[in-house]
Formats: sequence, structure tokens, C-alpha cells
Amino acid sequence: MATAITDAHEAQEALRGLFDAYGAGRKGAGPGEAGSGRAVFFGGAGVSTASGIPDFRSEDGLYHQRFDYPPETMLSHDFYVGHPAEFFRFYREKMVAPDARPNRCHVKLAELEEAGLLGAVVTQNIDGLHQAAGSKRVLELHGSTHRNICQSCGAVYTADWVLAQGDKTPDGVPACEKCGGRVKPDVVLYGESLDERTLMASVRAIAEADLLVVGGTSLVVYPAAGLIRYFQGDKLVIVNRDPTPQDGQADVLISCDIAQAFDF
Ligand SMILES: NC(=O)c1ccc[n+]([C@@H]2O[C@H](COP(=O)([O-])OP(=O)(O)OC[C@H]3O[C@@H](n4cnc5c(N)ncnc54)[C@H](O)[C@@H]3O)[C@@H](O)[C@H]2O)c1
Ligand SMILES: [Zn+2]
Repeated sequence: MATAITDAHEAQEALRGLFDAYGAGRKGAGPGEAGSGRAVFFGGAGVSTASGIPDFRSEDGLYHQRFDYPPETMLSHDFYVGHPAEFFRFYREKMVAPDARPNRCHVKLAELEEAGLLGAVVTQNIDGLHQAAGSKRVLELHGSTHRNICQSCGAVYTADWVLAQGDKTPDGVPACEKCGGRVKPDVVLYGESLDERTLMASVRAIAEADLLVVGGTSLVVYPAAGLIRYFQGDKLVIVNRDPTPQDGQADVLISCDIAQAFDF
């Protein structure tokens, strides 16, 4: 039977205890050394809602807003190719969040890594907030809005640059300043495959973990949601406001705001 927690204070105490008990890993390994940090965090859009970035499936998520096309369509590879102007309008308005700042969950995860109690963050998010909070080992399964790459010459541009192109080009489609090529966000669109190296590194991190804390994800977007099956460690913890299809596998099930749960 899973331990079920709904109270934020109880959640904080449980998480603190779990990271203390499992995070340190191999005896004697100091922070940042091989063998330190046998805990892994695997998160999704719910980690960033407290930073003001809407997720997809919550009540106030993007899937409950009205657009000309469904968000899955507008964030697909085919749409990017066939309707670039509309793709970039939606992308700039809804996917890039230049003013968002890390919340308590991002900050605590960075602190845990620094203390040698967390080995890696595996994230489905594309907002870069884990790095902004100071996390070093972040595996971005779906890429990042902070990298935008010319498909012709490989030049790399920032998110701010892509945002500025909205007014600078007639159709808002960013063109490379060096060669005129199309600049594509380094984000995995529906219909595209995940970066193999990032995926394998995520599988390895999860397979080697003693403690896996999964948070702020509906666990319905594959292949990311399938990563949990590689976990062979001691404790699987799920921290999510709404139920997920994998709740039955959790040893500890925490149903509350994740930014509050990590405020310890
Ligand atoms: N911030 C971002 O980078 C961002 C934002 C939106 C979507 N996405 C992308 O959307 C895809 C959607 O999958 P997903 O599972 O990550 O998101 P999702 O929208 O499908 O699910 C989010 C889950 O988080 C929970 N949640 C939301 N706010 C929470 C909070 N404050 N505390 C606790 N739980 C909370 C919800 O109950 C929901 O189950 C991902 O692949 C991701 O790439 C990313
Ligand atoms: Zn170029």
C-alpha cells in the first residue's frame, strides 16, 4: 500500500526524509563525485506552473484554452513545416516565457544537487528554469526554448532573439542573420523523435537511482512517461496535483502543490 499524503507540511517532512535517506548514495562520495546523489527527479510542466507558465492538461492549462487549431496540431512538426507563420506566433506567445523565474521546487532541487543528495533532474520542460535555479545536471528530454538553431548553417540564437524577430520579419518566421536559413527552436515537436543521447542518459540515471521522485507531470506523453519503468530502486514517489495513470506504482503518493511540497 502506498503512503498517501495531501498535506503540504507532511509532504515537506516526507521528502526531506527521503532525500536524506537515499540521496547520498555510495558511502564517502562527496557532492559532485561519482556515486554521490542516487536520487533522481523526473518532472513535467506542473513544476513550472508556480512560476506562471501554464501546463497543458490542468484546468487552466493550454488544452482548455481556445485556439484556431488544437495545441498538439500547432506544436507538431507538420504544422511547423506547413504553417510556419502561425507556428511561430503560437510558439512566441505560449511557449517562450522570458519573464518566468524559478520557484521553490526548482531552487530546492538545485540545493539538493549542491548538497550531494540529488544526482540528476530529468525534465520534459523546455523553459530552462532548472538551470536558472542553479541545477547542473539537467536532462532536457524535449529540448529548450533557449536554443534556436539555423537549419542551414547551425548558428545558435537565444530565446530573446526569436521573440524579437516577431516584429522584425514580415511573417514573424525567424531567418538566420548569417545565411538566411530557417531558425528552428531546439524543441521536440509532436511527430519528432527525442534526442537519443538525452533519452539514453535519462534511462541510465533512472535505472541507477535508489529514489525516484516524479513530479508535476500527467504521465501521459510518451516516450517520456514510459521512463519510470526503468526504475529498479527502493522508493518511487509521485508528487502531482491530479491523479496519474502510474499512481498505483508509487510507494509514496503526494497530492499537493509541488512548489509547496519542496519548500523544506
Ligand atoms: N514549462 C514548460 O516547459 C512546459 C509548459 C507546458 C507544456 N510543456 C510540455 O508539455 C508536455 C506535457 O506533459 P506534462 O506531463 O509535462 O504536462 P501536463 O500538462 O500534461 O501535466 C501537468 C501535471 O502537473 C500537475 N500540476 C500542475 N501544476 C502543479 C503544481 N503546482 N503542483 C503539483 N502538480 C501540478 C497537473 O495536475 C498535471 O497532472 C511536456 O512534454 C512538456 O514538454 C512544457
Ligand atoms: Zn544560418
